[in-house]
Amino acid sequence: MFDALTRQPDDPLLALIGLFRADERAGKVDLGVGVYRDETGVTRVFRAVKEAERRLVETQQTKAYVGPEGDPVFLERLWALTTGEAGRGRATAGLQTPGGSGALRLAGDLMARTGTRRIWLGLPTWPNHASIFTAAGLEVVTYPFFDIPSQAVLFERMMEALSGAAPGDAVLLHASCHNPTGANLNTEQWRAVAALVAERGLLPVIDIAYQGYGRGLDEDAAGLRILLSAVPEALVAVSCSKSFGLYRERTGAIYAVCGSAETALTVRSNLAALARVSYSMPPDHGSAVVSMILGDEALMADWKAELESMRLRITAIRERLAAGLSRRWQVLTAIREQEGMFSLLPLEEADVMKLRAEHAIYMPTSGRINIAGLKTAEVDAVIEKFLSL
Ligand SMILES: Cc1ncc(COP(=O)(O)O)c(C=O)c1O
Repeated sequence: MFDALTRQPDDPLLALIGLFRADERAGKVDLGVGVYRDETGVTRVFRAVKEAERRLVETQQTKAYVGPEGDPVFLERLWALTTGEAGRGRATAGLQTPGGSGALRLAGDLMARTGTRRIWLGLPTWPNHASIFTAAGLEVVTYPFFDIPSQAVLFERMMEALSGAAPGDAVLLHASCHNPTGANLNTEQWRAVAALVAERGLLPVIDIAYQGYGRGLDEDAAGLRILLSAVPEALVAVSCSKSFGLYRERTGAIYAVCGSAETALTVRSNLAALARVSYSMPPDHGSAVVSMILGDEALMADWKAELESMRLRITAIRERLAAGLSRRWQVLTAIREQEGMFSLLPLEEADVMKLRAEHAIYMPTSGRINIAGLKTAEVDAVIEKFLSL
């Protein structure tokens, strides 16, 4: 029976991790990784997470199922963190999910149930977006978002493409810290997108996976909040993987903003039914940790302080990379204004392979680099190697 299957290509980023591990050269540099690393190259557990875990071990009485919706207190606190005032009082159906990926997949499945046929994705975007929505049975269409050689957001072309979307089409937007480009919309552009989405009757699907890594917790959700205030319905997929460093705990949520409380109940029952036939119940540990942090003033303050120090480390490295790399590529001063962990460099595949072969610097052939993959001490040496290309 299994002979009917064909071998699937390795995920290029996972394959890159394997190549990096196998490289025995001292001083090798991993710019491909998709997780935050500190100045010594370690992805640490947040202090507040450790403390919350300790308290959970002491107080948790049961490992019984949490139910397909997950924990309502977690959902409420995460919603408040994500949407602030803009989310208050909105009729919302929330479901705890296995990470942001699980949230996006449920969003896709829900849209397929409602008869939504198409979803618009910006180019480029996180490659898994297209895979997830295609797997959910939606047709994926694209709008231009970013021009690599000029490092510019193609805002006019994006608006022009979205003006051609049919009412009822879905459009995916990154809330901030765009993966893979680091390029984001400004406030005025968010307002224009919100007006267009509302006017054309499109369904916004907002992916927020890096809150706190760009300009700050509220700042990174500002565009999302503008959009929510302008539309009657939306889907918001939240990942706690990066913001709480809970990657492997698979922690996230999907929220559907609905026109009425009655509709929200119906939507929640559909989301729960979709979860039930997929993974049934969400994992609990990560969301219990997040819920505890968000419900405890001291833990919350410590988590915010640590996240802020991570954000500042990223912006400091962005400064140095922008100054260094713009000596050769003038457009790369843009790295300074870009946000979050990623930037997309205008490199040829041959350059990427040369960096890998000659200098043990690893990144995918797309030219995406993870700024947080750089140890503080190696930034200057890495800049020199780029300049030697
Ligand atoms: C843009 C974007 N959305 C969603 C996710 C999903 O993250 P996870 O499923 O690990 O929570 C990621 C992870 O890399 C991402 O980059």
